[in-house]
Amino acid sequence: MTDRSPEVDPHSGVETTGHEWDGIKELNNPLPRWWRFIFWGTVVFSIVYWVLMPAWPALPGMQGHTRGVWEQSDRVDVATTVSAARAERSALGSQLMARDAADILKDHELSQLALSLGESAFGDNCATCHGAGGRGAKGYPQLADDVWLWGGSLSDIEYTIRNGIRNGAAEARFSEMPAFGRDGFLPQDQISDLVEYVTALSRRSADPAAVARAAPVFQQQCSSCHGVTGLGDRTKGAPNLTDADWLYGGDRATIRRTIFGPRNGVMPAWSSRFDDATIRALAVYVHSLGGGE
Ligand code: HEC
Ligand code: HEC
Repeated sequence: MTDRSPEVDPHSGVETTGHEWDGIKELNNPLPRWWRFIFWGTVVFSIVYWVLMPAWPALPGMQGHTRGVWEQSDRVDVATTVSAARAERSALGSQLMARDAADILKDHELSQLALSLGESAFGDNCATCHGAGGRGAKGYPQLADDVWLWGGSLSDIEYTIRNGIRNGAAEARFSEMPAFGRDGFLPQDQISDLVEYVTALSRRSADPAAVARAAPVFQQQCSSCHGVTGLGDRTKGAPNLTDADWLYGGDRATIRRTIFGPRNGVMPAWSSRFDDATIRALAVYVHSLGGGE
């Protein structure tokens, strides 16, 4: 037996392990306890992790990786969240469909939910024509005011959204102003008189002689839709001609163009693109923009 009593390195005062290479001796400096503690801790952690969580890839028949005892799966989590959101949405939908208009508007929580759903659907689908927030554009009615072509109650608005206007479908709202000039129903001079008449209807100064000449023509050709006094008719989507709100424009040149040839604005039907709840939410949103009745 050789003497194994540890040799002490004279420079550092540390024991050597007794290993020596070409005069270089290995000092006996064991790893600190805290370091070993962490090291073994991570080893234990990783083994526990493999057991509990999805970890090892691709054993045949295991769909890509080991499942782990907890069967944790982000994909399943997402699917659960999505189906919860769907359930919430359809609960919202059936509430929206079950309540009548006035009731929805009275229920703060329900109308807030409908508004947020309606606002996002509007931004994605309607703002292209009606402008952000429904502020309208030439030929596309402003929805954020209290002037309505076809009606501003929640159910009128909902009907318009569901079925659209002049899009060829049987349920669509429909009317057709004749092309008085293009189709030769009225001569140019009568159209010029009518331009003055419409200008006078909206309380602006106009040639009184032309207005007098046009009065019987208006009653004969226009009053069936725009009303005897020019107030319009919602069953025909005919605008009120006595106010300062114009779908196409109230200057004489634009009025002339409108009487000469019809515009017949078209709005698509949305019933096939949205579920009932989204359509009702859109109606609540449009109604809320400013002029709901
Ligand atoms: C392709 C363009 C277009 C799109 C997209 C469109 N609209 Fe319209 N909308 C129109 C036109 C044009 C009119 C007016 C037609 C007419 O009567 O002259 C109209 C009319 C309306 C009216 C009737 C207004 C009134 O005064 O009675 C409502 C309500 C309406 N749109 C809501 C919507 C909603 C909600 C959406 C989105 C789901 C939408 N629109 C998308 C073109 C569009
Ligand atoms: C069959 C119904 C009908 C008749 C008849 C009719 N209109 Fe119209 N008119 C409409 C409708 C509907 C609109 C708006 C919808 C569209 O064209 O997009 C309109 C729009 C207008 C506008 C545009 C208003 C705006 O806000 O820009 C003017 C002006 C007008 N009509 C004048 C007349 C005059 C004048 C006559 C008679 C010579 C007449 N209309 C006859 C249905 C009618």
